[in-house]
Amino acid sequence: MEFSLHTASPSKKPTDCLIVGVYDKRKLTPTAQLVDEATDGRLGKVLKREDFKAKPGDTLRLPQLDGCRAERILVVGLGKKKSLDAKKYAKALDGAAKAVTGMPVRKALCALLDATVSDRDARWQARQILQRFTDATYRLTELKSEPGDLPALDRIDLHLEDKTCSDAAEGGAREGLAIAAGMKLTKDLGNLPGNLCTPAYLAEQARKLADRHGKITATVLEEGDMEKLGMGALLAVSRGSCQPARLIVLEYRGGKAKDQPVALVGKGLTFDAGGISIKPSQNMDEMKYDMCGGASVLGTFETVAQLGLPINLVGVVPASENLPDGNALKPGDIIKSLSGRTIEVLNTDAEGRLILCDALTYAERFQPQVVIDIATLTGACIVALGRHASGLLGNDDTLCRQLLDAGETSLDRAWQLPLWEEYQEQLKSNFADMANIGGREAGTITAACFLARYAENFRWAHLDIAGTAWNTGQNKGATGRPVPLLTQFLLNRIE
Ligand code: BES
Ligand code: MN
Ligand code: ZN
Repeated sequence: MEFSLHTASPSKKPTDCLIVGVYDKRKLTPTAQLVDEATDGRLGKVLKREDFKAKPGDTLRLPQLDGCRAERILVVGLGKKKSLDAKKYAKALDGAAKAVTGMPVRKALCALLDATVSDRDARWQARQILQRFTDATYRLTELKSEPGDLPALDRIDLHLEDKTCSDAAEGGAREGLAIAAGMKLTKDLGNLPGNLCTPAYLAEQARKLADRHGKITATVLEEGDMEKLGMGALLAVSRGSCQPARLIVLEYRGGKAKDQPVALVGKGLTFDAGGISIKPSQNMDEMKYDMCGGASVLGTFETVAQLGLPINLVGVVPASENLPDGNALKPGDIIKSLSGRTIEVLNTDAEGRLILCDALTYAERFQPQVVIDIATLTGACIVALGRHASGLLGNDDTLCRQLLDAGETSLDRAWQLPLWEEYQEQLKSNFADMANIGGREAGTITAACFLARYAENFRWAHLDIAGTAWNTGQNKGATGRPVPLLTQFLLNRIE
């Protein structure tokens, strides 16, 4: 996607599609007003004739109007002017993006910066426009023999009323593009099925990421390396699979050498059949998405590298399959994690915490200022929060607050659950230092309790993205979340 900024009269610029906003009761935004004047009131007349209600996200497609050089005009509803907030604005953008990517439009001139959003600034608006429009062009076509026939939107020109906010718009637009690029990488990896996206493939993509960006290096540990280190928990999960596990380590150096890094640890379970505690077959295909936490780590690195953020970042992605076979880990088995503690595996389907605990211990060697893990960890999280918010738990209230705020700003929201000591009792084992499951109750919390035992030496937060990483049903597909949240969190740390 390309973009540029324009202050000239919107009706004089040739474009495949001019996108303008209208408030309810057909109240025109400044740009819509200009277009109405340039077309001798034709815009206003059609809106009236079509009885356009202008609810946020409503769209109306108009053919060319005399007086305006755009080949077509897309009118976007913004709702009541006074109550236009971030969420309604985003809804309007998504409606517009969906409409415009369904038309044969390569170049669009977007004039939605002139709407005033009550709780946000122009930089945020420009970021959202580029992020949402670019994300709406996302398709995974490589695995179909016939590619789609619509020409793809590949250029968005942003119309500005005047030059006063051009720096903010430019900065925001760049951020939006970089976030969309990170989301695309995350979605591509997520949507790719388990037979193609194996631990080795994930590692290969991490290497390619490092090749594309000078400030990123990738190191990949193989099973032999992990054995020497004593990563008994990660290796136990991988035992039932013919695909050997990997531990992917990414380092981005954009800050000063002495700046402690932020560490992102992402679950990279490339297919979760449950192991010997095998899952029911309904929707089991969706367990190809069990590596979306790891994919979001790679995606966030892409975004951060494109923006050249002045921070240091470490990524650790334990990658494995979880399958049943004659060598597989069995219920009751007791294994030893990298930290030296023993775990009684009462359910082999609670494997995410097993690969993550060794990755968390490994992350310690980078002396991170904070560690955030991202994982499709529990079905219970979908029961608790649905598909709107990611679950958030952690051992540091400031860090949790910062992540919640970043979620609000980016509209990629999270919701905090308690991580009280009382819940730890559910993980007691008669034979080992702990069990890997805590019973039916509070499944998301007890999973986080397990991880917390491996995060005692640093400030840590956990994002359970089981409900947010992909859409199920008709629109099945990875969402690219939580790349927007993580990027906003990192942007907020600068300065
Ligand atoms: N990857 C799953 C969690 C999951 C399930 C995410 C469905 C999204 C949709 C995880 O490895 C798992 O199987 N968790 C178990 C834990 C249980 C055995 C304590 C679960 O949630 O059922
Ligand atoms: Mn599982
Ligand atoms: Zn899993």
